[in-house]
Amino acid sequence: MKFKLPELRHEKDAYEPHIDAKTMEIHHDKHHNTYVEKLNSALEGQEKFQDKDIQEILKNLDDLPEDIRQAVVNNGGGHYNHTLFWAILSPKEVKPSDDFKKAIEDAFGSMEKFKEQFKDAALKQFGSGWAWLVLENGQLKITSTPNQNSPISQGQVELLGLDVWEHAYYLKYQNRRPDYVDAFWNVVDWSRVEQRWEQAK
Ligand SMILES: [Fe+2]
Repeated sequence: MKFKLPELRHEKDAYEPHIDAKTMEIHHDKHHNTYVEKLNSALEGQEKFQDKDIQEILKNLDDLPEDIRQAVVNNGGGHYNHTLFWAILSPKEVKPSDDFKKAIEDAFGSMEKFKEQFKDAALKQFGSGWAWLVLENGQLKITSTPNQNSPISQGQVELLGLDVWEHAYYLKYQNRRPDYVDAFWNVVDWSRVEQRWEQAK
C-alpha cells in the first residue's frame, strides 16, 4: 500500500488568525507530503508491510528491518501525527460535551489546569516535537514526544496532539511558542477528540 497525503477538512485559511493560511499550505503540502514520500520510499520493496496500516506499523516498530526502522519512525510518525493534527482542527472551537469535560476535570482538576499542564508540556519539549493528550491504561495523561515519535509506539492512544516544530508556527509566531499554544485552543474540535476517546476507552 502506498500512503497518501490526506486532504485537509477545511480551506487553508479556515483557521485564521490562529493558524495562518501560508503556514497551513507549507505545513500540509510540503512538510507532510515529504513525510509521506519518504515513508513510501523507506517501505518500497518491503512486501511484509505493504498491506499494513500506519497504526499497525508504528505499534510494532521492532518488526521493521533495522536499516529502515528510524526512517519509518521519523516519516511514518510524521505522516500519522500530522494526519491526526489536521483531523482535530476546526475553524472555531467545538466545545467538549459535559461527559468529556468531566473526564478532563477528574483527571486534571479543571479545564484550565489541563490547559496549563498541556502548555507546560508543549513549552518544555526542547526543540522539535509534539505535546499530547493520550489515553493510557484507561487514564487521561499529558505527554510530549521529540521529533516525530508517536505515543502509539509506546502503547498510548493519542486523543489530541499539538505540533510544536517551528515549521508549525514560526511564520506567524516566530519565537513565541507560548502564544501559538494559547491560540491553538481556538481551533480545536473537541468532538473529534472525544470520538477518539470513546473509541479508545
Ligand atoms: Fe509539522
